[in-house]
Amino acid sequence: MEERLDLIRIEALSALEPVDDEKSLENWQVKYLGRSSQLMEIFKALGTLSKEEKPIVGRTANQVKVALEAASGEKENLINQRRIDQVLEGEKIDVTLPGRRTISGSIHPTTQTLREIYRVFGDMGFQIYRSREVETDEFNFQLLNFPPHHPARDMQDTFFITSKQDRGDDPLLLRTHTSPGQIHAMLEHTKKYPEDPPPIRIILPGMCYRYEQITSRSEIQFNQVEGLAVGKGITFGDLKGTLSNFARRMFGQEAKTRFRASHFPFTEPSAEMDVGCFLCGGDGCSVCKGAGWLEILGCGMVHPTVLENGGFDPEVYSGFAFGMGPERITMMRHHIEDIRYFWANDLRFLDQF
Ligand code: DAH
Repeated sequence: MEERLDLIRIEALSALEPVDDEKSLENWQVKYLGRSSQLMEIFKALGTLSKEEKPIVGRTANQVKVALEAASGEKENLINQRRIDQVLEGEKIDVTLPGRRTISGSIHPTTQTLREIYRVFGDMGFQIYRSREVETDEFNFQLLNFPPHHPARDMQDTFFITSKQDRGDDPLLLRTHTSPGQIHAMLEHTKKYPEDPPPIRIILPGMCYRYEQITSRSEIQFNQVEGLAVGKGITFGDLKGTLSNFARRMFGQEAKTRFRASHFPFTEPSAEMDVGCFLCGGDGCSVCKGAGWLEILGCGMVHPTVLENGGFDPEVYSGFAFGMGPERITMMRHHIEDIRYFWANDLRFLDQF
């Protein structure tokens, strides 16, 4: 009997050695300490032993049981400790690691230029007037003195968004320029002040659309900033002064300007303003194509018909208007050769600003 107990102890302890998880420990406990284990069979058989044998075998069986329980407890502690160690290892934070860089975006180059334009004209007392992008033919063309079959319409190929049947000669379209906002602003103003309207001084920024071949120099979608000043006694001198001042504030105090005669249906006289090339200082370079001058905007005195369409009496009121392309200005400033970059959403381009 004692030998058997010894064998049970040796076998149990060696079977415990490789046990390394809760499940196999449980199996081990069932096998060596459970109700139908060999050890328990011996306890059950104690009653059949002789008086002399019983206490000796009983004591030894007890010693084996205690030894196995102790070994099992130790194993359980070991397994628990290992699990805790694993969890801690998994949650370990290395405080010496360098932090992860957060990538922050930047302001789109066109928006940067737009904001500078707002600042400069804001300083000169111009307010921002926002006008719709979906226009009627009437506002985009007719009220701006483009008669129905005027050749200048061809200069601005248009996205029409209604059919001829729907609206006849006044189809809806995506505005080809910000100039229709001039009419909206003037009509709103003269409706509000039917008698002796106070002067208007506004810029009208926004998106314009043209049905054109996309190339490095022309996009179907682009921004414009329109300007309008209407009041009594406004002259071409005011136009030149305001726009030259704008050029100096925008491109530097040294910026030279010149005005060349031009033609727009909604202004008379009309002009284009050039700025002395801010890259070569006028000597001629690839940006100004050797001319020393960069064309910045179109402008002119508001045509009497347009003033009238806005509700102003052209005998009493006069005004000037201008329009510029912030993408174009941004291209010149940063020597960007392809306008398609502005909408390509390529981070390699955008990251540079
Ligand atoms: N609307 C013109 C264009 O899209 C730009 C322009 C020229 C606006 C002269 C004006 C202006 O207000 O006076 O090309």
